[in-house]
Amino acid sequence: MSFKLSGRAGEIDDEVFRIALGLPSDVLKLTAGEPDFPSSDFVNSAANASIGRGETHYTNPSGIPELREEIAGKLRKENDLSYSAEEIVVTPGSSPGIWLLMFALADRGDEILIPDPAWFHYSVLARLAGCVPKRLPLKKENGYRISAADIEELAGKKTKLMIINTPSNPTGRVMGREELSEIAAAAENSRMYVVSDEIYEKIVYPPHRHVSLASLPGMKERTIVVNGLSKGYAMMGWRIGFTASSAELASKLSSLLGYTMVCASSVSQNAAVEALRNRKSEEYARMMVEAWSRRRDLVIKAVKGSDGLIDMIPPDGAFYAWMNVSSSGMDGKTFASRLLKERKVGVLPGYLFGDTGRDFIRISFATSDDVVSEGMERIVDFIRSQSTAAKWAPSSTAGKAE
Ligand SMILES: Cc1ncc(COP(=O)(O)O)c(C=O)c1O
Repeated sequence: MSFKLSGRAGEIDDEVFRIALGLPSDVLKLTAGEPDFPSSDFVNSAANASIGRGETHYTNPSGIPELREEIAGKLRKENDLSYSAEEIVVTPGSSPGIWLLMFALADRGDEILIPDPAWFHYSVLARLAGCVPKRLPLKKENGYRISAADIEELAGKKTKLMIINTPSNPTGRVMGREELSEIAAAAENSRMYVVSDEIYEKIVYPPHRHVSLASLPGMKERTIVVNGLSKGYAMMGWRIGFTASSAELASKLSSLLGYTMVCASSVSQNAAVEALRNRKSEEYARMMVEAWSRRRDLVIKAVKGSDGLIDMIPPDGAFYAWMNVSSSGMDGKTFASRLLKERKVGVLPGYLFGDTGRDFIRISFATSDDVVSEGMERIVDFIRSQSTAAKWAPSSTAGKAE
């Protein structure tokens, strides 16, 4: 018997899960959206101790007080942001937090401004919240920067929220103060709130630095910070995220969370307290970022070696590389599917991240040095075999990998 799906469920694209979960074991996977490291020993021990103490009950939907205090402390120390524990809500990963915020701040039919390209969850979550995702195209010529003019051109009366993500999935761009100031000014002029997804904040490559939009003058009132422990602490499966907003909004988010997700796992919350308290977390993050920095260098080197066939701006942060592969004569979807079949390398087609991603693929270098090197070698070899002088002539800017 087959179940007749609702229109809502029917319109959700399952492609990304089909690709990522369906890759056979002999494929080199450059698809992972998560650290290739396990959570640290001291976090694991803290979880065991928590179970031993019987901390296995429901918690307050907003999270346990110790964790909310630790998060407020982290925001003060690391992000120059002053929030009290009542303004923090612990969510089961940051992704549900984004959905709760859309639900709490935008009505049915309201628009949510989402950069294009951007992480595919945003537009799906917007639709699930009954809203209309409105895409803001980012251009390579502008280094994928968002300008105030771009925002003001698109934002209308129905635009309630904008999502930004720095460092970005998929471009790897880190927004500097200047760009954030433009976004701040445009948000104010358009009377919009901004959800600032900072999940990759700890993964930045020198000389770049992460700056939170909420730390800009006057922006705390307009910004909701979303972050979590999945990437910087390698705690993906623990499902701990958080939002920082106002006490009033936090209280509403807490009720919405209480009715839907009930609470984040009690054991994970206690492990997260240890992750935030223990100074060894900094060393752990440094160790991971060093590894990703080395792999980023491998990717840049391979792209340089493609003699301009792959066009890419090197990532400033996160562990993704966003590559234009149009010199192959194929769009990103065909390229990714043939690369998988013919060279056994798994990458994500760029269209999943928005219409501007049509000619792109996204690779993740959160995997071993060997897989990154071999995978990139096969990608370059494949694109070389497909590109003919007739289809494509090198330009002076293509493939610049500085
Ligand atoms: C941009 C971005 N935000 C949020 C998340 C979600 O992280 P989590 O729900 O594990 O906190 C991801 C995961 O890939 C992401 O890429």
